[in-house]
Amino acid sequence: MRIRKNPLNLRDIKMKALVYYGDHNIALEDRPKPTIIKPTDVIIKVSKTTICGTDLGIYKGKNPEIESGRILGHEGVGIIEEVGDSVSQFKKGDKVLISCITSCGSCEYCKKQMYAHCKDGGWILGYMIDGVQAEYVRIPHADNSLHRVPENLDDDIAVLLSDILPTGHEIGVQYGNVKPGDEIAIVGAGPVGMSALLTAQFYSPSKIIMIDLDDNRLKLAKELGATHTINSGTENVEKAIKEIVGDDGVDVAIEAVGIPSTWDICQKIVKPGAHIANVGVHGKKVDFEIQKLWIKNLTITTGLVNTNTTPMLLKTVSANNMDLKKMITHHFPLSELEHAYQVFLNGAEEKAMKIIIDNE
Ligand SMILES: NC(=O)c1ccc[n+]([C@@H]2O[C@H](COP(=O)([O-])OP(=O)(O)OC[C@H]3O[C@@H](n4cnc5c(N)ncnc54)[C@H](O)[C@@H]3O)[C@@H](O)[C@H]2O)c1
Ligand SMILES: [Zn+2]
Ligand SMILES: [Zn+2]
Repeated sequence: MRIRKNPLNLRDIKMKALVYYGDHNIALEDRPKPTIIKPTDVIIKVSKTTICGTDLGIYKGKNPEIESGRILGHEGVGIIEEVGDSVSQFKKGDKVLISCITSCGSCEYCKKQMYAHCKDGGWILGYMIDGVQAEYVRIPHADNSLHRVPENLDDDIAVLLSDILPTGHEIGVQYGNVKPGDEIAIVGAGPVGMSALLTAQFYSPSKIIMIDLDDNRLKLAKELGATHTINSGTENVEKAIKEIVGDDGVDVAIEAVGIPSTWDICQKIVKPGAHIANVGVHGKKVDFEIQKLWIKNLTITTGLVNTNTTPMLLKTVSANNMDLKKMITHHFPLSELEHAYQVFLNGAEEKAMKIIIDNE
């Protein structure tokens, strides 16, 4: 047997990845290809990824806790390239959806299906560990953190199920307790607000009012099922809501932006007994008007997506496409990811909604 003098060092294999270096500082660079660290890991060759509103927040400095040098991204689809010794549910060659939430499946929170708070996971991808905006990614606790992509599901649509669709559904619609006949308002017509708009329709609300600054997004919201739209940049939102649902306000307000002024809209437009479901990631404190709200018998919820409804959503979306494709406005190759961030950042001018990154 010939012994190789210089065995190939895996750390020498390079890949392209989008790296975060702090506020407004990202770069597409060569990084070492990830390797299996624990037997529960897999290595995935990423085929599709995307940029999330959360990544924009990171770029704008909302999450200074993130280490410089971190590879970003937590939404994607890919093919398993290598499996750790104790992975039992997946094998090399499987096409998988990467959940934005990593879950061990056995800790106190995983047992309650609160995977968002898994003691050895939660939202760590592209945040506490290197993410999917790269050619390859290491996924810990693979058995519980991946989903097989159904054969008849388009990969572009599958990417939308890593995060935004379960987020809109679980943290917006389910926590907001949307019921048949409800009059609801969704503040923010970005991909997450649109996902709340689409999944709210599972529960037959009578009115869905979308609120945003971008007329183009509001127009798409109408196509996706909104009964009314309000441009909060040019209209008085409280007055417009009263004209649509009466003086008391809406049954459910879903906050899908993550800034003080949109929280403020939500607390001003709800009727007694209403739900306010906050979905937006906030980087600043808000003015919570408890002196006005204490009497209103409100339920206010917050949360990080658990992805416990992802298997159901995969089935539903595979059976009918729910207009999800209309949310995809742009495609870029991985080599143009820095430019894609700029396009998504200037979403209004670029008429951009969800951007799919296709790996060559
Ligand atoms: N809780 C969770 O688990 C979770 C998961 C994913 C994303 N998020 C958060 O959800 C939020 C939305 O994500 P996205 O991907 O849709 O982001 P996005 O940035 O694409 O969309 C935000 C939308 O808000 C609109 N907007 C901005 N300022 C506004 C204002 N003053 N009034 C009305 N509309 C305004 C923008 O025009 C845009 O359409 C972000 O904060 C993101 O971090 C939360
Ligand atoms: Zn996301
Ligand atoms: Zn766990």
